[in-house]
This record gives sequence, C-alpha cells and structure tokens, in this order.
Amino acid sequence: MISLSDLRQFKQQGRKFSCLTCYDASMAKAMEKAEIDTILVGDSLGMVIQGHDSTLPVTLEDMVYHTAAVRRGNQHAFLMTDLPFLSYANVEAAVAGARAVMQAGAQMIKFEGGAWLADTVQVLTRNGVPVCVHLGLTPQSVHVFGGYKVQGKTRDAADALIADCQAVVDAGAAMLLLECVPAQLGKEISALFPEVPVIGIGAGVDTDGQVLVVQDMLGLNYGHVARFVRNFMQEQSGATAIQDAFNAFHVAVLDQSFPATQHTFQVEL
Ligand code: KIV
Repeated sequence: MISLSDLRQFKQQGRKFSCLTCYDASMAKAMEKAEIDTILVGDSLGMVIQGHDSTLPVTLEDMVYHTAAVRRGNQHAFLMTDLPFLSYANVEAAVAGARAVMQAGAQMIKFEGGAWLADTVQVLTRNGVPVCVHLGLTPQSVHVFGGYKVQGKTRDAADALIADCQAVVDAGAAMLLLECVPAQLGKEISALFPEVPVIGIGAGVDTDGQVLVVQDMLGLNYGHVARFVRNFMQEQSGATAIQDAFNAFHVAVLDQSFPATQHTFQVEL
C-alpha cells in the first residue's frame, strides 16, 4: 500500500503521481488494477453520487460509509477522505471527523481552507492525522465565491494563496491540493515546498500529482464540463474500457501528457 513517505519520495524523484476520486468498492478495485497511486473519497460524491447541485448536503456519515467501501476494494492506493461542509469549523469537530474517517480506512484527511485552519492542522498532525489542505477554488465556499471560478488570477491574489499555503505547511500540513488556479501558480507552489506533495486539478502540469473526478474522466458528466477535464473513455473501446481509461490516465499523468495546455488556465502573474 502506498504511503505518505512514498509520495514524498515520488516528489523528490520527480515522479508524478495519479489520483482519482472514488466512492465504491468495484471502481476502487479497477483503480487498484490500474495502479492508480492515490484515491480521494471526495465530497464531490454529493454531486456525482447523490445528485445534489453542490457538496454542501454531504454528511460525515456519508464520508465514513464511502471510505470503508473504497478501502475494502483497494489495497494499493494511498487513500484520503474529505471532511464535509462545516464539519471542521472548530478543532473538536475536526478531531471527531478525522477519527471517524481514519477509523474507516483513510490514511489522510482533506479539508478546504487556508491560514485560519493552521491550529486545526497542528492539532490533527500532532495527534497522528496527516492533513491535506485544499486551496484555490474550494467548492464548499461556492456561495462565497458566487460560482465555480478560477482563483489566484492576479499577483496579489496569487501571493495571498501562497501565504495560506505557507501557514498550513508551517502548521504541519503534509499535502496541498490546488483547484482551478493559473498553471504558473501551481508550478510556483509545488516548487516552494520540496517536502510537501502538491496535487492539482486545473492547476497545470507542474504539480506533483493530478486528480480528476472519476465520473468526469469517464465522460459521465452531462452538465458543464470544466476546462481541466479530459475524457479518457473516448480513446477506449471494448468490455474492459473503464479499466483501460484508468490505465490511460495513470500513464498520461506519469508521462506528463496530461494535463495538456488546453486543460490549464494560462494567466501571466
Ligand atoms: O471532492 C472532490 O472530489 C475534490 C476534488 C475536486 C479535488 O475535492
């Protein structure tokens, strides 16, 4: 089973790593066969599994249920799980949530935030819970942003985001996830923290890992398709196509053919 130290080593070696979201055991098994490096049990399940129009209705119980199912299906990938909306607004709640998902099989928790969560990151880390902080476009704050919009598009906004990364890394964050930021900013942040693997989604080719929502990369997206999505299913055919799509994604991340320029946000900072 891949560990956090394996991911750190990948970063030091310049070996990129693949990550997909996953919510059930059979997809998890197919990802194991494709040797996908990391799995995120994302609160995106509120949209792609439960049919809500945001991640806000997802509960901690949902995250525990799906984490346990994924862990049963996959013994290879490093497994991280989201803490859902408002379940980590104070340290005590975050500790209880982390306990629940780690006991269900997660190896790391992820939550959305920045410098204001540094104390929470520190308490969890000191108590044996590795933390990934999700920055940039943080979908749980969709109503604050007024939509799903690219973040960090000016030098000032990019510097503010870097300061948030610095604060949570100083507090002990073991991983960062950047969503929908200019490719240049993804590159800068990945280079700034040599010990901390950085996963990107719409953050350019230079982050250490790449994640996609599994339904998006299989073409099971009937609404707006984000710029950063590549449909790996279109290139495949036959009865084992899902398996082939996962294999193709893993290879494309490692050889850096994904994301290509058309999947990234090019902004001069
Ligand atoms: O919940 C999720 O699937 C995520 C990804 C979009 C990174 O956080």
